[in-house]
This record gives sequence, C-alpha cells and structure tokens, in this order.
Amino acid sequence: MNKSNVITDQELFFNQNSLAGKKEFTKNIFYYYANKEQIEGFNWIEDKKNILEYGCGSGTSLDIFFEARNLEEYFFYGVDIAEQAVKKAKEYYPGYTFYKIKDNKIPQIEDGTLDAAFMLHVLHHSFDHGDIFSEIYQKLKPGGKFFLSDLSSNNIFIRLGRNIFALFPAFFKNKFPDDLVVDGKIPEKYPVDYQKVAMLLRDTGFEVQEIGHGHVFFFLFGWLDRFVPLTKVKHLTSIYPKIMKLEERLLKHNLFKKQAEVFYIKSVK
Ligand SMILES: C[S@@+](CC[C@H](N)C(=O)[O-])C[C@H]1O[C@@H](n2cnc3c(N)ncnc32)[C@H](O)[C@@H]1O
Repeated sequence: MNKSNVITDQELFFNQNSLAGKKEFTKNIFYYYANKEQIEGFNWIEDKKNILEYGCGSGTSLDIFFEARNLEEYFFYGVDIAEQAVKKAKEYYPGYTFYKIKDNKIPQIEDGTLDAAFMLHVLHHSFDHGDIFSEIYQKLKPGGKFFLSDLSSNNIFIRLGRNIFALFPAFFKNKFPDDLVVDGKIPEKYPVDYQKVAMLLRDTGFEVQEIGHGHVFFFLFGWLDRFVPLTKVKHLTSIYPKIMKLEERLLKHNLFKKQAEVFYIKSVK
C-alpha cells in the first residue's frame, strides 16, 4: 500500500468535505447512541479546561462537547492536516485556536502545557500512531487525560461494506455524501486493533485506565435508515432502546468486544 496516496486522498476529501458547510444532525435517539462513547469521554475530561483535539476536522465534535457545557469555561486547541477544515473550525469557533499540522507534530503548542487531549476517528485515517501518541504525551502536563475513540477494523459489517462499496451503482453511493468516498471508492483505511492501540499507549508512557466498546451492528441500521428512514416512523422508535440493551449485553462477551464497531480508551500521563 502506498501510504502517501492514502493520506493525500483523505486530506483532499476532508478539505472538500469541510467546504460543504456544517451538517445539521437530527438530535434523535440515533445521534446520541452513535455518539455515546464520545459523550462519555467528554464527561470524563470535562473537569480539565485546557484541551486539545487532535484531528479536529471542522470542529463537529466541539458541537457535541458544548451541547452540555459553557464555551467560556474552556480553552481549546484543534489541530488537523486538512487546512480548509481547520479554517472552517476557526469560523465556527472564533474564540479558540486551530492549526494545520503535518507529520504528526504540533510545534505551535509548548510541551507540558495541556490538561487534556482527545482524538476521535483519526487512527483509521492515519499511520505512525506511536508518533502521534508521543506528540500528545509531550504536550500534556503530568496527570493530563487523553481520551480516544475510533472505528475498530474488526467489525465484519464495516469490512464488508468497504469492500463491496465500489461495486454499487451511483444511486446507492449518492446516499453517502458525508462519508469518505474518493472517485467512487472508499479509500484504503488503516486497520485499527484496540489491543494494539492500548499497548502503544502504554509503550508511550500513558497509564491506560479503561478500555470500552460500543455497538455491534448499529451502523447497519444507520445505513439502512438512509434508504428506509425507520427513525422517522414513530411507533418503531421503541425498538431502538431494545436493540441498544441487547448490544450492551452482547458486548460483555469477548467475542462481541472484538466485533464492536467502535472502541474507546481513557488514559492518563
Ligand atoms: C473522520 S474525521 C474526524 C474529525 C473529528 N475528529 C470528528 O470526530 O468530527 C478524521 C480527521 O482526521 C484528520 N487526520 C487524518 N490524519 C491525520 C494526522 N496524521 N494528523 C492530524 N489529523 C489527521 C483528517 O483530516 C480528518 O479531519
């Protein structure tokens, strides 16, 4: 695999994606369930005030963070490889500082100055994760918190979806304008295994405090909903809490932990 091709495509995509403007998500049960791990991570770091988002894109995750918190109480830095996305983030959050970075380095921020950092869905778009973790570790104060969450490469539906996507007709592909599609294909993603990520964090010097797993087939419902919007059918919404309960039960078993669509890790410097 040619690393530079993958990254170039993704940088281009995230720049273009940010120009399309902010997406308005319907704040329904789907939205909160899909972002459950992220919301949980934000609750964990909310006592820290000087925070970095690594791979911030155009700042969508900040929308979720500030749904429940006061803008003025926090100081944020956001960094990303996609320059246009960083510009958009600055437009949406003019009170905060955003930098375009390269080579997984953040020279703009002094070492040992941050209280916390988080990184959401960046690992499967990037490589040299050890370098990223070392950089974040350097920037944190001792005791600084680091929350990360990502797609797991193990989930069979996600793997299948990526492999067969290129074969589908345009009508189908057009239903995914907000997903990473370049020239009608989903570019190669980097495999992410939560156990390897946890090991790498420990090697960097972090103390891993908790590893968790989220949903097993929830994204499938999300995909289906683009064609048959079941979330809009009133008496069907009662089904979703039941599915969530079932998934929570399944995720207690190792077999399903491996299949989870997302994982998260809480670690401390
Ligand atoms: C799927 S988006 C997630 C954006 C944001 N974290 C969120 O959850 O809304 C992945 C982001 O990671 C950025 N990215 C990919 N590789 C990176 C790297 N090596 N360093 C910094 N950012 C990177 C991309 O440009 C993109 O904005």
